Amino acid sequence: MKIIQTVSQLEALLQQYRGEGKTIGFVPTMGALHTGHQRLVELCASENDVCVVSIFVNPTQFNNKEDLQRYPRTLDADSELLLKADADVLFAPSVEEVYPEPDNRIFDFGLLDKVMEGHFRPGHFNGVAQVVSKLFAYTKPDRAYFGEKDFQQLAIIQAMVKQLQLPLQIVPVPIVREPSGLAMSSRNQLLSEQQRSEAANIYRVLSESKLSVESSTPAEVIRWVVDRISEVEELEVEYFEIVDGESLQPILSWGVAESVVGCIAVFCGSVRLIDNIRYK
Ligand code: PAJ
Repeated sequence: MKIIQTVSQLEALLQQYRGEGKTIGFVPTMGALHTGHQRLVELCASENDVCVVSIFVNPTQFNNKEDLQRYPRTLDADSELLLKADADVLFAPSVEEVYPEPDNRIFDFGLLDKVMEGHFRPGHFNGVAQVVSKLFAYTKPDRAYFGEKDFQQLAIIQAMVKQLQLPLQIVPVPIVREPSGLAMSSRNQLLSEQQRSEAANIYRVLSESKLSVESSTPAEVIRWVVDRISEVEELEVEYFEIVDGESLQPILSWGVAESVVGCIAVFCGSVRLIDNIRYK
């Protein structure tokens, strides 16, 4: 596996591969890699001649300085995981390399980024779009892999690819969970053992809520989920919305939308966790 830190070296290497007719797959990450990331990388490696993974903790998508500072950084362990997962290139640039000057671009995603994560983390998705559009420009991948765990992020990236008319395919990857059901996340490392087991209630309650879809309205299901999760000592729900899987706007009845997803953000102590479940 080649480890590269500069944009010019990455571009030169990938140009060479492209010249040899090789397809390029790309997995952007912020490191602190776990089995969820690994799944994306393995899929990427199996579907492309060259698998490129980036590790970059992107400052422009953090709306909270403390969150940025305490984001776990584990480059040595990450490189080992990537080697095992068959990655060919690890791109790990510095902040100066990606932002030699401030990025002032403002993206317009209409209503997509006004709800849920976009509402509670203002500017977050603009920062994600800034960095991912730069990373796409360096790598020019044929395919890029994103997890459904960050459901809204996936929708935003798909909208950005359309807006910018980028010639690449976005491949969504299902959520990878711990045996307890807790969605894997780099932030899980920040939880105590006790918190980790309490956090497993998030998925347990979401799964159980699917059983009441026939007999309840979306509003009733929302109420039920929020009440059940709030009963758990360490958990505090920031939002739970049941939305149209395409527009991400809240739905009032189950009937109209083709796909329906419940998206949740929960504080477990001071650690913010997100998860989602597909109802239809
Ligand atoms: P990060 O949180 O490191 O996640 C990188 C990718 O891994 C994302 O596409 C995310 O959805 C996916 N992922 C994380 N946990 C997962 C799980 N349990 N199951 C499936 N996929 C999972 O998302 C980001 O980084 C950043 O916002 C980034 C896109 C790299 C831009 O900075």
